[in-house]
Amino acid sequence: MGAEVIYGKQLATEIREDMKQEAAELREKGIIPGLTVVLIGDDPASLSYVRGKQKASEKIGLASNLIELPENTSEVELLDLIGQLNQDGEVHGILVQLPLPDHIDDQKVIEAIEPQKDVDGFHPINIGRMMTGQDTFYPCTPYGILVMLKRARIALEGRHVVIIGRSNLVGKPVGQLLLNEHATVTHCHSRTENLQHHTRHADIVIVAVGKPAFITGDDIKEGAVVIDVGVNRVDGKLTGDVDFDSVKEKASHVTPVPKGVGPMTITMLLSNTIQAAKSIHNVT
Ligand code: GUN
Repeated sequence: MGAEVIYGKQLATEIREDMKQEAAELREKGIIPGLTVVLIGDDPASLSYVRGKQKASEKIGLASNLIELPENTSEVELLDLIGQLNQDGEVHGILVQLPLPDHIDDQKVIEAIEPQKDVDGFHPINIGRMMTGQDTFYPCTPYGILVMLKRARIALEGRHVVIIGRSNLVGKPVGQLLLNEHATVTHCHSRTENLQHHTRHADIVIVAVGKPAFITGDDIKEGAVVIDVGVNRVDGKLTGDVDFDSVKEKASHVTPVPKGVGPMTITMLLSNTIQAAKSIHNVT
């Protein structure tokens, strides 16, 4: 039999069609949602991510602008640029691609972005709003996972979710979003003792550790839902954190890599940008 494969790619295409329509309606009102992405340095993986974000924005009719700055850009220069973007009426969403070079303090940069334009949902004000169950910008990967689970009609209330990985980008916020949906959430990480004990008791396992084949069929219970957030390159091929073949035999649902969570992340960024434009222009 095997698990149902949840293709984020397909869902992302459907949602983007709806957003294209929404962007066209805003355009008729004279509003063009604008996303500015800032990339420091020339890391090929980051460049490939930001190009993907830019292409996707343009495809649904958003105004997209990529600002590429050299590796030796100073923290002050970057903070000045963010100050200008905060003031720019045509910019509704600001995304500074992480990680930043070591001489720049990530947190200082995140906190310089106007919360109303923080389409990444990384600003402490937006994180605080998320934690207190308010409507705000949610970090894109966790938000994409939530939408995928809901569209696949996977019940969350009262279910036991085990998250492996505790990053600020994925692990911590996805736990909060699912807690807001009344799930019972366990956070596991590199210091967790007897990880398998936790994963084998989970109804839903979310894996975000950056290690190929980290979770196998042996680690999960029969009928579990497995969400793979990993992005690893093995022999030039993109692969996740889950041993797809063995997990597929035992799970009820599993997400693939590629075509799983990744396309949903970009989709939620576009959605946040449209929401930012609407809120700045007081459109409901
Ligand atoms: N680097 C990897 N993922 C992300 C993301 O979602 N947002 C930003 N700003 N940087 C990233």
